[in-house]
Order: sequence, then structure tokens, then C-alpha cells
Amino acid sequence: MILLYCNKSFFFAIMNMVIIMEYKVVTNSEEDTIILAQNFESEKFNNMVICLIGELGSGKTIFAKGFASALGIEENITSPTFNIIKEYTSGEMNLYHMDVYRLEGDTSELGLEEYLKKDGVIIIEWADMIKDELPEERLEIRFKITGEEKRSLTIIPHGSKYEDLCEDVL
Ligand SMILES: Nc1ncnc2c1ncn2[C@@H]1O[C@H](COP(=O)(O)OP(=O)(O)O)[C@@H](O)[C@H]1O
Ligand SMILES: [Mg+2]
Repeated sequence: MILLYCNKSFFFAIMNMVIIMEYKVVTNSEEDTIILAQNFESEKFNNMVICLIGELGSGKTIFAKGFASALGIEENITSPTFNIIKEYTSGEMNLYHMDVYRLEGDTSELGLEEYLKKDGVIIIEWADMIKDELPEERLEIRFKITGEEKRSLTIIPHGSKYEDLCEDVL
């Protein structure tokens, strides 16, 4: 594996001729994470899929909140842990906010495929728990708690649309 470090703060890892690009971003406050989410929202497109991965309290729901507020959704965004999926239709685009942490049994029962056919943006918390269900093309954001208000984010675009998105936003 050849690992090249670029000063634009992203990595190229060349593994078996597959180029994986990843961006490193540090947010120093909840507000920083919200601004990052708003920046992604400003480049939104239909059927966008954002997969959020990271331990409890790492900022996944804060990111979803920032994205939702930028969409103009006024309802309070809370983690949809107990009902798995919450739909918000009052914004510029529909938002399907999922938290699959408590999804038990057959993960295909989530019906993600149906949501992928609907118009809107999908944000999935704990997306690593449904790896097999995720579409090939997606944005992956991995959160790490590195301080009381510090979060280290690794952002990985999967597919050219998401690579362009990261180029524009980051
Ligand atoms: N840089 C940061 N980014 C996001 N949240 C932060 C940050 N610093 C502190 N926090 C706090 O961490 C918590 C993150 O909670 P939440 O987004 O619900 O986590 P998760 O959904 O990953 O379990 C919030 O209480 C938020 O105020
Ligand atoms: Mg959450």
C-alpha cells in the first residue's frame, strides 16, 4: 500500500489500484460541526446519501441537525433511535434521518432501497451497522471524540459524485 499525504489535508491510499480518498477535518465546537453540515447542504443533490459513523456523543446527530436547519426544516431534530427513521418534508428537500443503532435482526427489513428511490437526502447514523445495505455511491463521515469539544472527522467520498462534492465543500 502506498500512502501519500497531501497538504490539502486529504489522503490517497492506493490499494490494489483502487484509489481511496479521505479528508481529515477537525471541528473544535458543536458550531463547527453544524457549519460543516451546512456547507455540505449547500451542495446537496437528490438521492444524496450521507453515512455517519462514530461512538455515542461524537456528533452524528449534531451534523444531521445542521444539515436539516440549512434545508429550512424547523422541527427539532432528535435522534430517531427508537423509531429508526424520521421523515422531514417541510424543507427545500425531503430529509430521511435514520439511526440504525437499535435495528435488530435482518437489516434488509429497514427498506433502505425504498428510500433510495424517493426524492430527498438520506442521513444514516451508525451506518457501519448496515454495511451490506449501503449503496455503493455515498458520503461516509467517521467521527472521533478527541477532546471535550474536539471531534476528528474522516470524510470519505465513495463515487465520483461524492468526490466532486468533497472537492467543492472541503
Ligand atoms: N465539535 C463538536 N461537534 C459536535 N458535537 C460536539 C462537539 N463538541 C462537543 N459536542 C457535543 O457532543 C454531543 C454530540 O451529541 P450527538 O450529536 O447527539 O452525538 P451522536 O449522535 O454521535 O451520539 C453534543 O452534546 C454536542 O454539544
Ligand atoms: Mg445520534
